Amino acid sequence: MTHDMREVRFLLTGLGNIGRSLLEILSVRQEAMATRYGLALRCVGVADSAGAAYDPAGLDIAAVAALKRAGRSVAHLAQYDPTLSAVELAARAEADLLLEATPTNLRDGQPGLEIVRTALRTGKHAVLASKGPLVLAYGELAALASTSDGPALRFSGAVGGALPTANLGRHLAGAVIERAELVVNGTTQVILEQMAAGHGFETALAEAQRQGIVEPDPSLDVDGWDAANKLVIFANAVLGRPTRLTDLRVEGIRGVPPEALRAAWAAGGRVSLVGLAERQPDGGYTLQVGPVTLGPEHPLARLSRGEMGLVVHSDLAGRTTMASLEDGPVGTCQAMIRDIVDIYGAPAAR
Ligand SMILES: NC(=O)c1ccc[n+]([C@@H]2O[C@H](COP(=O)([O-])OP(=O)(O)OC[C@H]3O[C@@H](n4cnc5c(N)ncnc54)[C@H](OP(=O)(O)O)[C@@H]3O)[C@@H](O)[C@H]2O)c1
Repeated sequence: MTHDMREVRFLLTGLGNIGRSLLEILSVRQEAMATRYGLALRCVGVADSAGAAYDPAGLDIAAVAALKRAGRSVAHLAQYDPTLSAVELAARAEADLLLEATPTNLRDGQPGLEIVRTALRTGKHAVLASKGPLVLAYGELAALASTSDGPALRFSGAVGGALPTANLGRHLAGAVIERAELVVNGTTQVILEQMAAGHGFETALAEAQRQGIVEPDPSLDVDGWDAANKLVIFANAVLGRPTRLTDLRVEGIRGVPPEALRAAWAAGGRVSLVGLAERQPDGGYTLQVGPVTLGPEHPLARLSRGEMGLVVHSDLAGRTTMASLEDGPVGTCQAMIRDIVDIYGAPAAR
């Protein structure tokens, strides 16, 4: 290791689509992370629903990823410790950074919330893909991370995959956001496009399910709750407004009339499920999620199938438009890597 190389000992909780893909990416990008960013990443602990494995000397991440791809659990690793849960791993491991990718649970945020809380309390930086802890306890977690010299909290991948949605505050530093439109649920984009092509709602949903892009509980997608979760995180993190789900008006796509869809497409536009934040004269924002007809001139009307995007109007930067078409979970993994590089202040611009 050269003298300016920084070693980062990390934990990864959740080894599903995101966690496993992240390990696969890091196993082949380890050298690039070192040469481009001066970061020597060493995985010292992993956890799934069966428990945790910990080795201060480092785990073989390619082997862990292969184990999970074969459908097995961390209990098959030599370093498996039956006394450790993911929370206990976060509490007891000698580590610098937590990467959190357990399932999103909006009832109580667990297990992610306790894992992240514990990591931050024990001085570890936290990078989240999971949304539950942020939707339910953003203020508490941000406070744990805001102490001077305290740990960092990052969650770029939780809002729109590789899109730098959660990083927009920094991008638009000094500007006031007047209006933000977020199309951050790829599943409803696919369903609405299918319906515009003449399929019924159930058939369109079945097609999206066949593509493997629908949440296990489809209501999260089609009734607008996934988009709402992301808007809550955006409002807290980017707009700086303490916000809960109950502060939003949320309408899904089940009731969109097929004729409205066909008319929008025929006119060169489309109907999308949009998360909308509009600044009010008192400095607050109205926040809502619902189907919106986007005319042909609207930048988000040009998104392709499954693509996510956002348009933000601010007083200084004018109209900022971003879009991202991603292949599976790797976009979210890229966002988590961006967060790691951001935390360690490495020369990320290279
Ligand atoms: N998939 C995406 O494209 C995407 C995009 C952005 C954000 N996210 C968010 O990222 C997170 C992970 O998504 P995913 O698609 O990877 O989910 P997933 O495939 O369901 O994987 C979840 C992982 O969490 C593990 N787990 C469950 N309960 C646990 C517990 N109590 N302690 C430790 N680990 C536990 C599971 O263990 P087993 O392996 O033993 O089942 C599994 O490895 C979710 O919060 C999701 O909302 C996902």
